[in-house]
Amino acid sequence: MTPPVVPHMLGQALAVAQARGLARLDAQLLLLHALGRPDSDRGWLLAHDGDKLPEEAARLFRQLSLRRAAGEPLAYLVGRKEFFGLQLQVDARVLVPRSDTETLVDWGLETLAAPGMPAGARVLDLGTGSGAIALALKATRPALDVTALDASTAALAVARGNADRLDLALQFIESSWLDNVSGHFHLIVSNPPYVAEGDAHLAALTDEPQSALTAGPDGLDDIRTIIAKAPAHLHAGGWLQLEHGYDQAAAVRELLVQRGFDQVQSRTDLAGVERCSGGCWPTESGPQQTAG
Ligand SMILES: C[S@@+](CC[C@H](N)C(=O)[O-])C[C@H]1O[C@@H](n2cnc3c(N)ncnc32)[C@H](O)[C@@H]1O
Repeated sequence: MTPPVVPHMLGQALAVAQARGLARLDAQLLLLHALGRPDSDRGWLLAHDGDKLPEEAARLFRQLSLRRAAGEPLAYLVGRKEFFGLQLQVDARVLVPRSDTETLVDWGLETLAAPGMPAGARVLDLGTGSGAIALALKATRPALDVTALDASTAALAVARGNADRLDLALQFIESSWLDNVSGHFHLIVSNPPYVAEGDAHLAALTDEPQSALTAGPDGLDDIRTIIAKAPAHLHAGGWLQLEHGYDQAAAVRELLVQRGFDQVQSRTDLAGVERCSGGCWPTESGPQQTAG
């Protein structure tokens, strides 16, 4: 039998959750979720900390707090995550989109805005997960022809659901990297798995799909495959742009140069860390002059 839940005032419930080890912000967002209120109601919570917490909400809040204290991502508990201004539904089938990945979206948009890129440029997002990158690009530039690809049927179902909810028309391909891809693209973007097997950081990521995270002994197996195969699907003057680990930029630039890419360069995230690297596939007459 479920034990009765001791009713708390809202402020007391928050204090109990924080005593369990939750950050104050996480506790507030979970309490708002349990009460069926939007994230923007944090001010309301402060003003009502003496209000009684209804029993049903108290029970749900306790369950969610315990799961959060055990390490489950907040985004899975509330079922959504904001990315590039879009509300995406997420669950354990997909990686939780990280704000670091907005660096890749910004770079992609800059590239697509360069002279010579058609308004309806073809874009391919490899390893789309929740659809975060593909949907952010399409939402910002609706004329783009965006394809989202993943090897995971389950992840593609989440991405399709997000595209439907946001009313953004994408194409979807189930494929291991470029194996089932045909045609050519102006931009190929990817945030592939890049954590080395056995990396200490994995201990904190056990709730997310391991297939979304790890890529061989040095974390570069998937990046090597993508760099090897992407040129067959890039227009001359088209770009490949990849997110990678904080310490992988030099290795990824080297792989791109060896494969024959021009204008090889990296982009830093808000913390100043080289977070993405990419290059332009050369035209037959030589390197493109278009800025990345
Ligand atoms: C790091 S997650 C990125 C998810 C999403 N793009 C984002 O930025 O939040 C990597 C994604 O690559 C997918 N993936 C892993 N191996 C793959 C493969 N061989 N071919 C295609 N996708 C793959 C995973 O299923 C996962 O969705």
